[in-house]
Amino acid sequence: MSYQILSILGQGSFGYVYHLKLPNSKEYALKVTDITHVPAIIAITEPETMLQLQHPHIIQLCYVNCDQIGQRRCLYMLMEYCERGTLTKAIANGVSEDQAITWFIQMADALTYLHSKKVMHRDIKPDNILLNSNNDIKVGDLGTARIQEFTAQGGATAVGTYCYMSPQILQGQPYKDKTDVWSLGCVFHQVLSKNPPFKFFFWMGKQTVNFQIPPMPSSYSQGLRNLILTVLDMEESTRPSAEKILGDLVRLQNRPYNRQQYVRLPMEVVDHESLLNCLKNQIILRSLIQIVSALAAHPGGY
Ligand SMILES: Nc1ncnc2c1ncn2[C@@H]1O[C@H](COP(=O)(O)OP(=O)(O)O)[C@@H](O)[C@H]1O
Ligand SMILES: [Mg+2]
Repeated sequence: MSYQILSILGQGSFGYVYHLKLPNSKEYALKVTDITHVPAIIAITEPETMLQLQHPHIIQLCYVNCDQIGQRRCLYMLMEYCERGTLTKAIANGVSEDQAITWFIQMADALTYLHSKKVMHRDIKPDNILLNSNNDIKVGDLGTARIQEFTAQGGATAVGTYCYMSPQILQGQPYKDKTDVWSLGCVFHQVLSKNPPFKFFFWMGKQTVNFQIPPMPSSYSQGLRNLILTVLDMEESTRPSAEKILGDLVRLQNRPYNRQQYVRLPMEVVDHESLLNCLKNQIILRSLIQIVSALAAHPGGY
């Protein structure tokens, strides 16, 4: 038995996220990030922080490694696999009020925990919120928020993120953990409305956002819509903390919140050489597929 790539789960300016099967048959998500231009202290301290976090709604890292091949340096992060993919995908067909509140509670719980550990996520958005086979929230992309500042090449990645950025970040002011709370408000407005509430555009060469909050569908309760409005408070000092939001949501759902028990996954022992070989084969296969599809698209040749 060897390492096996089952599919590509995501692709960004950083590299790839693979669905990987280990020789012990367990399945994980493997994120390979090109960190050639990222200062080592940033690249390494963030995954280290992640390894110390223990929460049922935060993705767990099960193996981290880093290598230098030629001029390129790569970071390998083996994470628990989230079978149902991103929140972006999950909300496309509409979500019931009860489901929305359940996810909102799990998110507020994860952020309360992170903020109690003095960790800011800084990139809360539906693409970074994953769902496991039980349809429970797993906050992801935690170790890479800072890395992305160095690797993102602008364009779509940056724009997507700007939509969820707090007024403080966009105005270049110092910001605290309440910046994640703002992004959480944007995400939950989107869960109800299907689109991000604030559109980002260029005006006179500068990034601009119109912060007028669009109405949310009236099929959701006034209580839930009002709560999201209080979260989207432009003023950081009056914006509620994640802990306050968690309490308000539990009262709104009107049943006790039984947080799931955290079961720590075992760390995996990975044979790095074999893993690299598996990745090399995958890259060769991908190149062959690209060549064959290019030939098929131009049967007369170039
Ligand atoms: N643990 C995981 N389980 C399943 N899919 C994942 C997992 N981690 C990432 N993905 C997929 O890969 C995409 C990119 O991963 P992410 O870590 O958010 O990278 P990026 O730096 O491009 O934002 C995600 O949007 C998701 O579709
Ligand atoms: Mg991401």
